[in-house]
Amino acid sequence: MKVLGIETSCDETAVCLIEAEGDFGPSFKWQTLGNALISQAAMHAEFGGVFPNLAKREHAKNLVPLLEQVLGKDVRLTKSNINVGSLEQTLTREPELLAQIVPFLEQHGKPDIDAIAVTYGPGLEPALWVGINFAKALSLVWNVPIVAVNHMEGHIVLSMMKGRNLEEFEFPALALLISGGHTELVLSKQFQSYEIIGETRDDAAGEAFDKVARLLGLGYPGGPEISRLAAEARTENLVPDFKLPRPMLNEDTFDFSFSGLKTAVRKLVDGKELSGEEKKKMAREFEDAVADVLVEKTMRAVETCGAQTVVVGGGVSANTYIRKRLEEALKEYGDPARLLVPPPALATDNALMIGLAGYFRALHKEYADPTSLGAIGKLKLV
Ligand code: KG4
Ligand code: ZN
Repeated sequence: MKVLGIETSCDETAVCLIEAEGDFGPSFKWQTLGNALISQAAMHAEFGGVFPNLAKREHAKNLVPLLEQVLGKDVRLTKSNINVGSLEQTLTREPELLAQIVPFLEQHGKPDIDAIAVTYGPGLEPALWVGINFAKALSLVWNVPIVAVNHMEGHIVLSMMKGRNLEEFEFPALALLISGGHTELVLSKQFQSYEIIGETRDDAAGEAFDKVARLLGLGYPGGPEISRLAAEARTENLVPDFKLPRPMLNEDTFDFSFSGLKTAVRKLVDGKELSGEEKKKMAREFEDAVADVLVEKTMRAVETCGAQTVVVGGGVSANTYIRKRLEEALKEYGDPARLLVPPPALATDNALMIGLAGYFRALHKEYADPTSLGAIGKLKLV
């Protein structure tokens, strides 16, 4: 089965084409036929975060060129008659996308694909809608079904793949989802079944990295910048002479809270111009505080739930220090649950995660009804 994946929930526009066979299990196989992404991070940097209407506009501009890149030689150059009127209806709110998609579809034949997987939440609704309407337009013209994918399930499913294959995978699995919008501990007793056992009560882990980076005058996204400075502090043996809080570390819940950490950093910085060394120490202590909380809560959840596998996903899972700390903690735990982390380049948003999660849904014909499909900004995992 060939699945086209589309992701536009935040500030990455991404399209992929994957080919896969088999259900979730050892016989599952997949390969990437095309994978393309345009990151808008640099554009949003001046706002210190993602600006929804800018994201929407950029997605509309990027989708057709990305599709062309991904389909490559798989799409025949041929004159096709398309019903422009129905496309106009589907894309009334995306005139820029309409202007590009009409000539593309008129010049290209239908590619060999079986389903279109698109993120419908959670994320920024104006951004999500662009991907959804794009999927609807392609589905209409090519007569290919749509699969609506939960972005967080995408992070989980991608992280479940060890390398390119699914070897034995043992449930129950515990997923630690750490991204710019989410921080969740999710218990999964079987494939595609989720129970959120803990989540942040305020800021997400990635959001905390971004906000603290801003306080330190670093660029957006803040995660990689803070992580780089923290690593330098460790190699240069710069030891912070102050302590940041470890919010909710000792509370008997799997919930998190990161806004206090950001406030504590703000109080320490308090309008001062920090030296390079001071910034490195702050980054180190901040990263330590986040790692302490994430690792402790995850280990407690592993023990409580008897997890056999720990799956880490979301942008913050690109963080090498947090990965290392989780690895160490699981080793120390004795009977270590298997730790699965995504390849760093696929930790942040991409279309492969959507294509993969969508494939497993398409396999069971869990198609979306295009007339009722819409963006759900606060979509939950269930
Ligand atoms: O999953 P993602 O790409 O988008 C969302 O769905 O939110 O996550 C983006 C987040 C940003 O907050 C970014 O600062 C953070 O992931 N991030 C990192 C690292 N790389 C990206 N945080 C910590 N360390 C990193 N190396
Ligand atoms: Zn994400």
